[in-house]
Amino acid sequence: MDTILAHGGRLINRELSGVEREALLERIPSMQRISLRPREVSDLEMIANGAFSPLEGFMCEDDYIAVRGNKHLASGLPWTIPVTLSVGEDIAKRLAEGTDLALFENGEHVLGVLHLTQKFRYDKEREAERVYLTTEEAHPGVAALYEQGEFLLGGRISVLNRPYNPAFPSYRLDPRETRDAFKKKGWSRVVAFQTRNPIHRAHEYIIKCALEVVDGLLLHPLVGETKSDDIPADVRMRCYEVMLANYFPKTRAMLAVNPAAMRYAGPREAVFHAIIRKNYGCTHFIVGRDHAGVGNYYGTYDAHYIFNEFDPEALGITPMFFDHSFYCRSCDSMASNKTCPHDSSDHVTLSGTKVREMLSRGEMPPREFSRAPVAEILIEAMKK
Ligand code: ADX
Repeated sequence: MDTILAHGGRLINRELSGVEREALLERIPSMQRISLRPREVSDLEMIANGAFSPLEGFMCEDDYIAVRGNKHLASGLPWTIPVTLSVGEDIAKRLAEGTDLALFENGEHVLGVLHLTQKFRYDKEREAERVYLTTEEAHPGVAALYEQGEFLLGGRISVLNRPYNPAFPSYRLDPRETRDAFKKKGWSRVVAFQTRNPIHRAHEYIIKCALEVVDGLLLHPLVGETKSDDIPADVRMRCYEVMLANYFPKTRAMLAVNPAAMRYAGPREAVFHAIIRKNYGCTHFIVGRDHAGVGNYYGTYDAHYIFNEFDPEALGITPMFFDHSFYCRSCDSMASNKTCPHDSSDHVTLSGTKVREMLSRGEMPPREFSRAPVAEILIEAMKK
């Protein structure tokens, strides 16, 4: 029993094996080589293992334009973030549509082949405006976009090898594997939690509220590229382990990683994150305050409102929306704007900057804000 169909109906697998793989490997030396950026390497992995179903490769122009303008693929299926492979004009000039290109990581590790259907010029400012809702380079997603090459290469991929030396191998479960795990655990309603931060009490609260109404939790931190001042994934992973070990029932929660790069695209990325978790077999997805936001680019609940633009059936995963949450001294419990009648002066909320300052001085944040074992890991990591 599969709990939920993949986006588009079928879980994609673009990985070759056996004789097919051997045959393509032999042809690699005769192909033109393209070196992928880290973000493109993680996208390739996610296309290959079906996490980006129904994508079978990097986007051609029809999908790119439809997604950028309309938040749907050319087929009409919801999709909010362009998944593209860029090169500079000098390289693009030498490539012929209809040929196969060898895709490399770090110039030496062969990942697979792009069956080049189309090369096309694209408008980065337009993409920034539509996808990130700003053209400012101070936005990390926009900065990454502006660093890309001037041309996009679209076409299906065939993957020969996974990325070199992947982080957290024991937690790097493919959609097929998380689906199997849910089945074994007997979970049919599974909520996914996306995060790029250590889990604080407000995170824990919204996760547990969600868990009250489903069978199980997939704690699914993003471990691909993040901005330089985000906490490194290896430190975060230790925090997640300690959270699950101490504060969640073993039979109801599991940890696996999402290898994708962070885009910081706020509302559009919330929908993208939900679709990815649908492919991993989850039926529900948590969207809290300013999901995938950065700076002041998005309204606190824009990532909730955007879901109104989609046919729930076409989306196929149920978003669970949470208001700003905190510990309230008068309630004497965790609460949210939705449930707490008291003044905000009763609420224990700390900015990311403030918490970082405390941790770097070796100070424990209030127990109402962070669990002690998590804070200890962070203080230790700051010392280094
Ligand atoms: S994110 O970039 O992955 O969204 P983060 O790891 O901080 O950043 O958030 C993970 C999830 O928790 C998101 O859905 C976010 O909206 C939600 N969230 C974070 N802090 C709060 C909070 N205080 N109250 C409610 N939701 C929150």
